[in-house]
Amino acid sequence: MPVELFDTHTPLAPLHDAFLACIRNVIDDSRYILGPNVSAFEREFAEYCGAAHAIGVANGTDAITVALRAMGVGPGDEVVVPSFTFYASAEAIPPTGATPVFCDIDLETFCVTAETVRAALTPRTKAVIAVHLFGNVAPIAEIEALGVPVLEDAAQAAGSKADGGRPGALGTIATFSFFPSKNLGGFGDGGAITTSDGELADRVRMLRFHGSRDKVTYEHIGYNSRLDELQAAILRVQLPHLDQWADGRRAAGRHYVDAGLGDDVALPVAVGGCDPAWHLFVVRDPHADELAASLTAAGIGNKAYYRTPVHRQPAMRPYRTEVELPATEEAARTHLAIPMSAALSADQAHEVSEAVRATVRGRERPAIASARERD
Ligand SMILES: Cc1ncc(COP(=O)(O)O)c(C=O)c1O
Repeated sequence: MPVELFDTHTPLAPLHDAFLACIRNVIDDSRYILGPNVSAFEREFAEYCGAAHAIGVANGTDAITVALRAMGVGPGDEVVVPSFTFYASAEAIPPTGATPVFCDIDLETFCVTAETVRAALTPRTKAVIAVHLFGNVAPIAEIEALGVPVLEDAAQAAGSKADGGRPGALGTIATFSFFPSKNLGGFGDGGAITTSDGELADRVRMLRFHGSRDKVTYEHIGYNSRLDELQAAILRVQLPHLDQWADGRRAAGRHYVDAGLGDDVALPVAVGGCDPAWHLFVVRDPHADELAASLTAAGIGNKAYYRTPVHRQPAMRPYRTEVELPATEEAARTHLAIPMSAALSADQAHEVSEAVRATVRGRERPAIASARERD
């Protein structure tokens, strides 16, 4: 039985008619930019996250640049960012004029920690980007206790929970992506910034709209980066279902545990006090590429997302890339995403686990046989 890496279709299928109705309403209303659905989604998403403000933007990459600008990040500043993340987490820094400074992660959680961030701080550090990678939740309070403001890159963590609240309400400011495959995904690009700081929210609102409040006076060099009205309408249909989908992702993670997958590969570990809505289910194996090839042959979706960590990407050469990030290198070499979705069943998790087991145990047999032969 083949198992796809993602299944975005099954959870959305029951909402098909509601999507058509909301698109028709937007067309009938003819307000396509910053209309009533964007305002309503901003209210509803802020409330969902537990933040005072949410501001819709064009995508999760712009969200980071705009949020950093609102924090006052600019030329001469440094921003600490993990290297084991999607490239956009770091790519969004140079457009502010600041320099990315790469820090390591914890290998088991794939997230930054207060210790890995502390090692990268300098007197020039203006902000830290803590990525809630794969739906895990980085320890934001511990990092902010170092005395530096934290931007949560929550692109992959809509629906996750932590002791201190939800992603989006844990740090100084947070950013989300609504790319279609995300835990909350639109039918195109989209993003949001959340914060409980009214002044930051005010600056973000101006920056996403050419640095202006009224399109008459322009106070900043800003951006044209707005969440589309159509995407906002589609996201409003989905938001009431996010918790149920997040529970489906948690259940899928438990199905893998129950299927005994942890006997054969290293499973992702939740950060203490957090309850991840797994966006990707990423295991570690010393021979990850070989495992990938045999899963593909068995019809099991899989992907190595970040084989080359960001600090070793060609575009990052102008920045300080001569850093030693041992956990990042190890994660980059050994990680592999296996199927995960809100609809992944126990049977599918069993199927995937059996295919992993066949590969991992198959490769052990010759070693055991040769040991026996030696006896
Ligand atoms: C961790 C992380 N940060 C930032 C982004 C950028 O989001 P977008 O693709 O909406 O620009 C993504 C997703 O693609 C992501 O996974």
